[in-house]
Amino acid sequence: MLDDQAALERVDAHATRDVLAAFPAQCRTAAALHPEPAPPGIRPRAVIAAGMGGSAAGGDVVAACALERLDVPIVVHRGYGLPALARPDTLVVASSYSGETAEVVSALETALARGVPAVAITSGGRLARLAEQARVPRVALPGGLMPRMALGFLVFPLLATLDAVGLTVASEAEIAEALGALDALAGVLGPARGAASNEAKQLALAIGDAVPVIYGGPLTGASAYRWKTDLEENAKTFALSGTLPEMNHNEIEAWRAPAGKGLHLVLLRDRDEGGAIARRFALVREMCATVAAGVSEVWGRGEGPLARLLSLAYLGQWTSYYLAILRGEDPWLVPTLEALKSRMASDERR
Ligand code: F6R
Repeated sequence: MLDDQAALERVDAHATRDVLAAFPAQCRTAAALHPEPAPPGIRPRAVIAAGMGGSAAGGDVVAACALERLDVPIVVHRGYGLPALARPDTLVVASSYSGETAEVVSALETALARGVPAVAITSGGRLARLAEQARVPRVALPGGLMPRMALGFLVFPLLATLDAVGLTVASEAEIAEALGALDALAGVLGPARGAASNEAKQLALAIGDAVPVIYGGPLTGASAYRWKTDLEENAKTFALSGTLPEMNHNEIEAWRAPAGKGLHLVLLRDRDEGGAIARRFALVREMCATVAAGVSEVWGRGEGPLARLLSLAYLGQWTSYYLAILRGEDPWLVPTLEALKSRMASDERR
């Protein structure tokens, strides 16, 4: 079915395939965006990246890239307000693609109340209005996408914002490399490429009716969580995610029959994971394979951490897209999530 263009287009009624195919172009556009006006170039002691769902994913990617590079922590904050860490010598980056997410608006309000320097990354909404009123620097994003499909707009402007305050997470060469890696992947993961040589179609077919369980390592753990959320929102399936070595100390015990029989394991590998982590992946694979419905292994592309993480995220987007098609679900729509948001918004208006 995945190679039958007409059948695929019938399920993909909102042409999500075109949005995914344009992801490398989105990243190129995003890489040229900067906060306006420029934030004061004072190096913060810590960065708090506030966001929810798809808009928090940019913070996860950047924080993972920064782990081995920056001597300043990047804390991804998912929730209302801000942690006590947010003080005048830190920087808050409030990201909400729509600009209508209550938790992120409340994070910016808290930053303003506490005198914490802030930057907003958004296409509009309440967040843009608040940033404008309070003269907070803002990266103005183009609208029209589903937030989870705007990952490029949430990663690259965050990199530019951090660069402007003296925190360089990815060099220009690494950014160029990541863009090149995505261009190359777009050519081999889209619907025109048959399942025989399309890794994303093969993964979706391998997962089939099973519940996907995605495990990453020290760098790719952030990608594993992103795969889980894309699978949930695009394919409307439960999905689990975890990180090695931590899951070796707890979740591994749950891999038993009969429950394990309904699970498909996907391992997100990385060239720099190191010998001990590679050995742990091998053991997890060996131990889980005896109970799992199936096991797949995928590798990030490229040299730099940004290329490796974004290429894995892009493969996850296409995999969740094809799984949605196989299950007869329009990958664009998220009606339950939107119903909950509008009920919360009407409660707030009362
Ligand atoms: C929907 C999606 C969600 C949103 C989240 C926050 O496509 O991915 O996870 O990202 O509900 O909304 P925004 O990103 O607009 O702040």
